[in-house]
Amino acid sequence: MDLTNYNPDREVWTPPGGPPQTDRIPGAVYEAMGEANIVAFTRAFYRRLAGSSVAHLFPRGERNLMAAADKSAALNVFLMGGPHLYQQRFGPPRLRMRHMPFEIDEAGRQEWLRCFRETLAEAPELFAMPAEHVGAVDKFYTDFSGWMVNTKREGTGAS
Ligand code: HEM
Repeated sequence: MDLTNYNPDREVWTPPGGPPQTDRIPGAVYEAMGEANIVAFTRAFYRRLAGSSVAHLFPRGERNLMAAADKSAALNVFLMGGPHLYQQRFGPPRLRMRHMPFEIDEAGRQEWLRCFRETLAEAPELFAMPAEHVGAVDKFYTDFSGWMVNTKREGTGAS
């Protein structure tokens, strides 16, 4: 984890309403893709993040970036209906807590989602994601990503 940008004095913002209640992604997604395709999907997503306006939050250099992607992929295996890979390797996800070192505002979340959705659009062709479940995957990550927002920027129009 790169803590270069960590500012312990900043004010943490908590989304009202608590963690989102959203439907789980059908297990058919993991069954069709398997671990290898979910890892490849997540690596493609992280390459997009590295070229995005939130790139400064992520580790620099191919090796470090791909190590971060693979950690995230272990959770994606679970979120997409597969085994508890992340939990076995790293323990309880506690994702909001694990994202606290990074200042994530609504604009950053939207940029993260843009990269995610671009990868999702090519996922049926490149990573064997069932096309009929792309909408469910999109909805889950859209809803859940709201819970990672921990910073409110005043005066930017972003909440
Ligand atoms: C559905 C929403 C999200 C999920 C499921 C997710 C998942 C994850 C996971 C599993 C990790 C690894 C945590 C660890 O073990 O240390 C991680 C790290 C990280 N995530 Fe997210 N994330 C989400 C949203 C976001 C958003 C919106 C941002 C920023 C705009 C973000 C930025 C990061 C960063 C900077 C790291 C640390 C990378 C590193 O240095 O290793 N995430 N995320």
